[in-house]
Amino acid sequence: MSDKQSQVMAALSTVIEPELHRDIVSLDMVRNLSIEGDVAKFTIVLTTPACPLKNVFEDRCNAAVIGQISGINRLNISWDSQVPTDRKIHGRLDVPMRSLIAVSSGKGGVGKSTVSTNLAAALANAGAKVGLIDGDILNPNLPTMTGLGVGRPKVVDGKMIPMEAYGFKVMSTGFLTNPDKPMILRGPMLHSAIRQLFMDVNWGKLDYMIVDLPPGTGDAPLSLAQSFPLTGAVIVTQPQDVAVSDALRSIAMFETLNVPILGVVENMAGDFFGTGGGEKLSTERGVPFLGRIPLDAEVRKGGDYGRPIVVTQPENPAAVALQHMAETIAARVSVVMLQSSDVIPLNVIG
Ligand SMILES: Nc1ncnc2c1ncn2[C@@H]1O[C@H](COP(=O)(O)OP(=O)(O)OP(=O)(O)O)[C@@H](O)[C@H]1O
Ligand SMILES: [Mg+2]
Repeated sequence: MSDKQSQVMAALSTVIEPELHRDIVSLDMVRNLSIEGDVAKFTIVLTTPACPLKNVFEDRCNAAVIGQISGINRLNISWDSQVPTDRKIHGRLDVPMRSLIAVSSGKGGVGKSTVSTNLAAALANAGAKVGLIDGDILNPNLPTMTGLGVGRPKVVDGKMIPMEAYGFKVMSTGFLTNPDKPMILRGPMLHSAIRQLFMDVNWGKLDYMIVDLPPGTGDAPLSLAQSFPLTGAVIVTQPQDVAVSDALRSIAMFETLNVPILGVVENMAGDFFGTGGGEKLSTERGVPFLGRIPLDAEVRKGGDYGRPIVVTQPENPAAVALQHMAETIAARVSVVMLQSSDVIPLNVIG
């Protein structure tokens, strides 16, 4: 490394990652530094392609280098990303996924499947490799919400090939069963059905696996949370008091199981259900607030027609809120993984 390169590297090592509170050089986020004339050129490897903080990094790097090191007048930053790998998952499950996110709620109908589908679409659109599992084995909604209908997954070499929509992969018992005949499964069978959606599917490599859970804290969400190493849980709630008290139970379940709470999403905010319940809950429980999504008929239509609103109407305020929520969740996943001793550090993963 030339003198100038070392000086720039030293200056960059004063730039602190705003959420991990460590400098970007020791986090191994600065790569391929070269000096061309008065320009320092390098790549910043973010911990998620859906990073909400690019501008913050750019400003901080400029402040650290420009005017501080003689002869360097401009930065040329390229962006790359590498989602860390949760060690809890690595080697334990035969599915090459870097992180596993559960979307949960205490009460039914609050918008878990809507949040899961839009989260998957937003992360895929940012360039991440995303899988989505319909954890609602008995009442699967994702075939409708993804617009895939009753498609039948192909089987190759004994494993199912997941269906694909909007750049992400998805599996649901709704693809495997007759929509007119309800599935009647209990305890162990239910558990093995969820397991099959993970293990009997050729997912390929995934940055984020999202599981859309059935509502409540009953058998199915509990057994899923117990048998799979969850990186964290997103709790969806409506703003009104009854929903919030149910959400509280959901948070308590994950805390009992030692699953980190990524945060609370307040969905369907507005005149009808009110506003603020989700945020109040997260303040009271000391968990992050991940965003507020307004009640908007366009969101519902997006679900009914299998056209996630973040894809079809990105300018709609509900879509903007969902997009922002997805970025916040991705950033939180990185924080949870990099703060935990269970994570495989960024600089040792491929
Ligand atoms: N922000 C919103 N504005 C308007 N409608 C919404 C919004 N969020 C979700 N919906 C609609 O509300 C209904 C319930 O949402 P969804 O199916 O996502 O909830 P869920 O929590 O997954 O339900 P279940 O507990 O039955 O699995 C759906 O028709 C969906 O389109
Ligand atoms: Mg649902």
